[in-house]
Amino acid sequence: MNMDHQHHQRSASHDQHRVLDLDAEVFGDHLAAVLDLTGVPAARSVVDLGAGTGAGSRLLRQRYPDAAVTCVDNDPQMLELLRGQGFTVVEADLDDGFPALAGPLIAADAAAEAPVDLVWASSSLHHVAHPARLLSGVRRALAQGGVLAVVELAGLPRFLSHTRGALLEQRCHAAAEAEGWNHHPDWTRVIEAAGFDVTMSEVTAVAPVTPAAREYAQQWFARFSDLAALTADDRDALEELLERFSDIELEPRATRTVWVATPD
Ligand SMILES: C[S@@+](CC[C@H](N)C(=O)[O-])C[C@H]1O[C@@H](n2cnc3c(N)ncnc32)[C@H](O)[C@@H]1O
Repeated sequence: MNMDHQHHQRSASHDQHRVLDLDAEVFGDHLAAVLDLTGVPAARSVVDLGAGTGAGSRLLRQRYPDAAVTCVDNDPQMLELLRGQGFTVVEADLDDGFPALAGPLIAADAAAEAPVDLVWASSSLHHVAHPARLLSGVRRALAQGGVLAVVELAGLPRFLSHTRGALLEQRCHAAAEAEGWNHHPDWTRVIEAAGFDVTMSEVTAVAPVTPAAREYAQQWFARFSDLAALTADDRDALEELLERFSDIELEPRATRTVWVATPD
């Protein structure tokens, strides 16, 4: 591997961490509203599948302070960040199914492999090669009355409100979708087939225009610049937008789809 490639990999990974953290900072309240939909009043054991930089894990720990929150991921750098925040981590490839949860899954005075009260999978199920296999494993791991929450971005977050910008943003989203960004199906049937009753809903949030929101928006538009499907005119408009980004009027908003599933 040459130095340029190494540098590129490191900075791509850093950008990915930053994007996840910015999403948590800008739309954190939104995620809390999503968690409300699960209707889990108390939990001893919670598992965050594809935990990333810990946006969901931190929310889960805050909501269930007495629970053991176990984070699963296959990216060593994410796992290091999660460990640094005091989470129990399990390094596992979710393509192989629901992992064995070694370690202090629940409080030390209880049995080591107690069933799980809440499994949370936010923006992660669409990365998994065999979701049906993973979901069957989740079904087996859940406690009586346990809940699975699958969360996906219904679309990419939107930031521009004025008509011309909003249309450019729409075309950027269409080009990104054509390249498979955030691609996921309606998970309802897949989750049902794994032995769950499922309710699907959407939560939309409008976030305040903070410096983090501006940085998050700018990150998205900078990433759009690489999209092959953009026309030359749109590429020029994007460049112009990025040049005067600090003056652009923003209205950050995002919609998440949540599937709340309970064993049938
Ligand atoms: C888009 S991030 C979402 C992170 C976090 N859940 C959030 O909402 O901010 C997807 C995460 O899933 C993890 N992931 C993707 N495929 C995986 C797999 N096959 N096994 C384990 N983790 C995986 C990635 O490493 C990444 O941390």
